[in-house]
Amino acid sequence: MTPSRNRPLTLAIFGTLLLSLGALICFFWPVVFLRLLSKELSLSPTSTSFDVWTNSTTIPLHLEIYFFNWTNPEEIRTPGKKPSFVQLGPYTFLERREKVNVVFHPENDTVSFDLKRTWYFDVERSNGTLKDNVTQLNVVALSAVHRIRNWAFYWHTMFELMLIKIGHIHLTKTVDELLFTGYEDTLINMGKISKIVDLPPFDKFGWFYMRNESTMFDGHFNMATGQDSIMNIGILRNWNYRNTTSFYDAPCNAVEGSAGEFWPPDRNFDEITLFSADICRPLTYEYNGMMTYNGIEGKQYVIGDKTLSNSTKRRYTKRQANSQSQDPDVVNVGQCFCNGECTPSGLINVTACRYGAPAFVSLPHFHKADPILREQIAGMNPDDEKHGFHITLEPTTGILIDVAARLQVNILLQPSDSLSLFSGVPRTYFPMFWFNEHAGITEELAPPLRLLIQLSKFGHYTSIAILVLGSLIVLAAGVLHCLHKRGRVDVKPMSAGFTVPTGQKTELIYLDTTVATDDRDAQTRLNRQLYPKLVGDNLQDL
Ligand SMILES: *[C@@H]1O[C@H](CO)[C@@H](O)[C@H](O)[C@H]1NC(C)=O
Ligand SMILES: *[C@@H]1O[C@H](CO)[C@@H](O)[C@H](O)[C@H]1NC(C)=O
Ligand SMILES: *[C@@H]1O[C@H](CO)[C@@H](O)[C@H](O)[C@H]1NC(C)=O
Ligand SMILES: *[C@@H]1O[C@H](CO)[C@@H](O)[C@H](O)[C@H]1NC(C)=O
Ligand SMILES: *[C@@H]1O[C@H](CO)[C@@H](O)[C@H](O)[C@H]1NC(C)=O
Ligand SMILES: *[C@@H]1O[C@H](CO)[C@@H](O)[C@H](O)[C@H]1NC(C)=O
Repeated sequence: MTPSRNRPLTLAIFGTLLLSLGALICFFWPVVFLRLLSKELSLSPTSTSFDVWTNSTTIPLHLEIYFFNWTNPEEIRTPGKKPSFVQLGPYTFLERREKVNVVFHPENDTVSFDLKRTWYFDVERSNGTLKDNVTQLNVVALSAVHRIRNWAFYWHTMFELMLIKIGHIHLTKTVDELLFTGYEDTLINMGKISKIVDLPPFDKFGWFYMRNESTMFDGHFNMATGQDSIMNIGILRNWNYRNTTSFYDAPCNAVEGSAGEFWPPDRNFDEITLFSADICRPLTYEYNGMMTYNGIEGKQYVIGDKTLSNSTKRRYTKRQANSQSQDPDVVNVGQCFCNGECTPSGLINVTACRYGAPAFVSLPHFHKADPILREQIAGMNPDDEKHGFHITLEPTTGILIDVAARLQVNILLQPSDSLSLFSGVPRTYFPMFWFNEHAGITEELAPPLRLLIQLSKFGHYTSIAILVLGSLIVLAAGVLHCLHKRGRVDVKPMSAGFTVPTGQKTELIYLDTTVATDDRDAQTRLNRQLYPKLVGDNLQDL
């Protein structure tokens, strides 16, 4: 055998090896990568993610609060005058989230923990001070009245006497009092009444009163670690030791969705669900497009109609839907989240979740809500850029790269015939304040994440490169082989019906069977066609 006959063979074998290598990488790299990633992502006392999860200082979280200052409270009963609001703020707090009482349950692949949140006022990021005066609706009086609404008349008479002491349906307090310090209220102070109407178990009122450093406020969480399957990572299994809540009717009372910090890698979700302890229910976010944050591309999910509409339908399995019908049931979750009387779209009724106060959550400035809510008052200027609620996930790793959790708290003011304080007032959803809880992957953390994403693509690109190279080499081997044997061996054209022995690699190449032999007639010169050629198989025997 001459060396020149050997060269195509060596080339062909080499090319075939490369092709197989490329194919192997192409098939197995994603599996290997996901395996490696899962190991680091899934929560265990020793995993990388555990450190990041427990040490909240890695990713700074800011809470910005904007108040609505009610500028014309004396005009509330004047026909033709709308309540008018001026936005104050932001009052910005740095938020530290710690997980305490962390207990792993390897038997069911979950982890239990409490959340401890601490807030530090950040003067530099704020527009205003904690001593700013804000005029708002008297929430305590309103909540108490809301409670006794349907009670016997003599309660109203008794209540009327107490409300006379209060005098106004509005009050002016400092930002500090309204948030963390709390203020004493005549109604709360009358201990008797607190018992009668079962007000929140606090001695003062403030939107964040008693919440600083509290480990109880957000409830007790039991979350999947992803040890069994990475696709379960971060899913909230139980909240306050149960997988349902008492705040909504079934199936809306289900504890479901992500606890918010972990999402499975390599998923292409159209929508995601996140359980919010603040409003005691899961929220659905819809895919909104790709966006880039600190040089990392992610899928953005936003709160839209699926969460805000009062008639969203959803398919549940029979068991979840708790229905008598045989098919999986379609439930109008918009209705079961109404919890009684439905609201115009854009509002989430959190009355049950907030000690019976007539509280309703919306996007800031009633963004994406029924326009009627904005028309009843003055001062709302919704802007998607500033007031949308979005979450951005990096799709390959499932890592959260940017979140802006923005919600507004509103109180429903309702007229009452028996209570003079509330007679003749318009039925209005009153905006109180809105907040923006914002966190994003930092510039320091972005490069390692970018590297990780590149690593996941590495396998893909490498395998393509190797496959291309392998094919070229095999092709070259084929061409060399043909050039070589031209004039010496008469190759029989294979018929079109040629069957390839199973399990053998073939490729289609052009074999010019006629040029080499001069004594063929002109017709056979045209006999160029595609022949299946066995690759790397006994080339020298042909
Ligand atoms: C809020 O409005 C009241 C009048 O309704 C005013 O006295 C107060 O200064 C306003 N607060 C701020 C911070 O502008
Ligand atoms: C700061 O607050 C005032 C109202 O109190 C507002 O007019 C102003 O635009 C705010 N500035 C910024 C930068 O938000
Ligand atoms: C919350 O508690 C911490 C620690 O006691 C304290 O430093 C911080 O000022 C408090 N935050 C607020 C808003 O009161
Ligand atoms: C897992 O087990 C722990 C301990 O027994 C329990 O507290 C937790 O509720 C369980 N979680 C689920 C989803 O069953
Ligand atoms: C809100 O929820 C409460 C309690 O769950 C319910 O009584 C009320 O009818 C609901 N709707 C409105 C508009 O208040
Ligand atoms: C649902 O929302 C729409 C749009 O805001 C509103 O017109 C309708 O009255 C609401 N349905 C109920 C039952 O309140």
